Parts: sequence; C-alpha cells; structure tokens
Amino acid sequence: MAERIKVTVGVAGGIAAYKAVEVVRRLQDAGFDPHVAMTAAAERFVQPLTFAAITGHKVVSSLWNEDAGASGGEMSGIEHINEAQTTAALIVVPATADILAKFAHGIADDFLTTMYLATTAPTIVAPAMNVEMWQHPATQANLEILRKRGVTIVQPDSGYLACGMVGGGRLAEESAIVAAVAEVLARERPEKSADWKGETVLITAGGTREPIDPVRFIGNRSSGKMGYALAAEARCRGARVILISAPTALPPPQDCEIIPVTTSEEMRQAVLGHLAEATMVVMAAAVSDYRVAEAAPQKLKRSGPRVLELQPTADILEEIVRQRRQATTVIGFAAETEDVLGNGRAKLTRKGVDGLVVNDVSGTDTGFDSDRNAGWFLTPESTTELPLSSKAEMAGRILNYAEALRAGRRQAAASLR
Ligand code: CTP
Repeated sequence: MAERIKVTVGVAGGIAAYKAVEVVRRLQDAGFDPHVAMTAAAERFVQPLTFAAITGHKVVSSLWNEDAGASGGEMSGIEHINEAQTTAALIVVPATADILAKFAHGIADDFLTTMYLATTAPTIVAPAMNVEMWQHPATQANLEILRKRGVTIVQPDSGYLACGMVGGGRLAEESAIVAAVAEVLARERPEKSADWKGETVLITAGGTREPIDPVRFIGNRSSGKMGYALAAEARCRGARVILISAPTALPPPQDCEIIPVTTSEEMRQAVLGHLAEATMVVMAAAVSDYRVAEAAPQKLKRSGPRVLELQPTADILEEIVRQRRQATTVIGFAAETEDVLGNGRAKLTRKGVDGLVVNDVSGTDTGFDSDRNAGWFLTPESTTELPLSSKAEMAGRILNYAEALRAGRRQAAASLR
C-alpha cells in the first residue's frame, strides 16, 4: 500500500470545531495521515481525545510539555519544529477571526501559531465565524494578506450560522476542504498529478466577433489568455488538445490542434463537429450572446442615428451538455460583474455543467486581458476559491478540479452500462 501523506489539521476555537472531526475522517478516506494540533479555545469545544482516538496520534496544543516537571512545564521546543518540518500541509479547520489575524501578523503564542511560522509546507485555511466578523474589514484585510502570501482560503458558504444569522461565514462543506487539500498537494507534488495520456480535451478560447459590416464587428474584451493557458496545461499533462480559438493576439500554444474561428456560429460548428472525440470540454471562450440580424454586405456609410437589430446566438454550452457522451466532463466559465457567486451558481444549474469557473470581471487586476485571475470553482456540491494567481497557475488548479470531476463522471457512466 502507498505511504500515506502526513498532514496537520489545526483546530481553532469556534463552534464549527466539531466539524473538524469529520474533515479529519474524510482526509483519512482520501488517503492522508492527519495529525491534529488544537488551540486552547478549541479544546473547550471538542475533547482532544476524540481526535487522538480517530487519528491514532497524540494531539498537541501547548508549547509547553506539562509532563516535564513540577515547575510549570518545560518548552517542548522540538515538537512544533518537528511537526512543521515533517508535515506536507497545514490545514486550519475552522479558521477563526483570531487565528487569521495571528497568522496574518506573525503572532506565535501557542503551538498552532508557532507551527504556522515554522513550516514551509502549504497552508490551507477554512474560515468559519459569525457573518459580521467575517465581513469586518479587519478580517477581510487579514485574509488579503494571507492570500497574497499564498495561503489557500476555502471560501465559507452562505447559510444558517450557529449564531442564528444567515450569511457568509459558515464553514465550507467537508468535501470542499478535502478537495482543496488534494489540489494543493497535487500542485506541490507534480509527480503525483495523474497522466492525461489518452484524453482528448476540447478547449474554446478568446472572444467571438459578430460582423456589422465587412470592417466592423461586435466583440468583447476577452484576450484568450485563460483558454490558451488551459490548453498549454492540458498538453503538458499529456492530453491531445483541440483548441477552438476566436481571434486573439497570442502565440499559439505548442502541440495543440488549433481551429481558428471568428463568429459564434463558426465556433458552434467547430465544437459540435469535434464533440464526439472529446473526453473533456472546457468552454473558456467569451461567446457573443447576440449577432447582427443582417450584416451589411458593404461598409456602412456615416449617416444619422442607426439602429442595429440583434438576434440571440445559439447557446453552445447548452448544446454540448445535451449532445455529449455520458462520460464526457463539461466545464463552463462565467464572467460576472455583480453577485458573482449567486449568478455563478444559478448558471451552473441552468447550464447543467459538471463544473463552472466563475470570475469577477469588474476589476482591473483580474479577468479580461489581465495576466492574473481569481475566482471560484463551483460544482453542484461545492464552492472552492481559486486564489489570485497567474493564469497558468489557475489553469493547473482548474484542471485538477476537472480531473476529480472526470473520475466521478466515468464511474457514473460505467454504472449505466
Ligand atoms: N456560452 C456559450 N454560448 C453562448 C454564450 C455563452 O457556450 N452563446 C458559454 C461560455 O463559453 C461560458 C458560459 O456559456 O462557458 C457562460 O457564458 P456567459 O456569457 O457568462 O453566460 P450566458 O449564458 O451568456 O449568460 P448571461 O450573459 O446572461 O450572464
């Protein structure tokens, strides 16, 4: 049997501490060997014995070894350094406002906070707290510091909180936390990432153009960078990549089969024509929702006000979902400017895709034409934050999640046979 990867689960003192028990169990199911470190406040919510019994390892909380002498204890100096150096990841469940503040500012006054400073392993935090505390500028500023430092934040869900309020701040689903751990470790240990040989990934990229006349068109601000980064990443993993690209100013990614298109209808034909070959479809293109009903055959001359009649284009993604083979995984994209998560989730359901990458394109630092991106990966069961990173890095994360969904689809398809 393969050696289990040691990870450390830090449990902080919030009402959601009891959910850490289930997270630890699921990490074991996923093949990890979790060790647990608790804050003193956490021990008020859950007995350390519970974690010790499940994991088979001693639970640590104090920096002081209370067994060492009658004088009030001796510092167990080796322990937190040893734990910090031997663990593959530090996962904090629940991450309270207090722990986020201490991590952000380097305060090290107990085992868990000291270990955070002492480890070079990736850190993943799953915040949970009252909605006002979650929304407080201090908490949000601390999260921003941690995010910039490369800490992965598993976005809390909205819902009923223990304090009786409804809103953000409820601990993410256990499955989303475990998925984030698996994804972070897959990136950190690329040799563990599965081989995509035998896969055919169909990717769309760029923004379509709908002609008004021979020289003008209706377009959008998509640069194609995200789709091209996905194509390069899928190719690196060994997949055959069919890249259906609307016009971009980018150099073509190596070793991909590139099909250039201009209008949404051309993209539709190309996608549907290759759908049967695809084991996975990633619809990253920004497809125009409208086209000019009758494009002028000659260049329109300047005159008074002019009204263009627009007609809706076909929804390519919807057709893909209807026509795909049972085992084909379909990932969509959503660019939103308001209520990003709410609109994203509605779109996931409406389009019937396996996963949806949703991003906020209202800012300048991410989204269209930027080299960086951030957002969320939504599935019917989970909401996982895609932290701000280069589009290449984000492509890796998206394909890791897609890989997990592909395994589920294959199983479902096999059981139907
Ligand atoms: N999409 C598509 N065909 C279209 C429009 C969009 O296949 N005619 C795909 C995009 O490639 C993306 C997803 O659908 O993967 C969502 O695109 P988006 O423009 O965010 O959503 P719309 O369905 O157009 O909804 P709305 O514009 O109303 O938000």
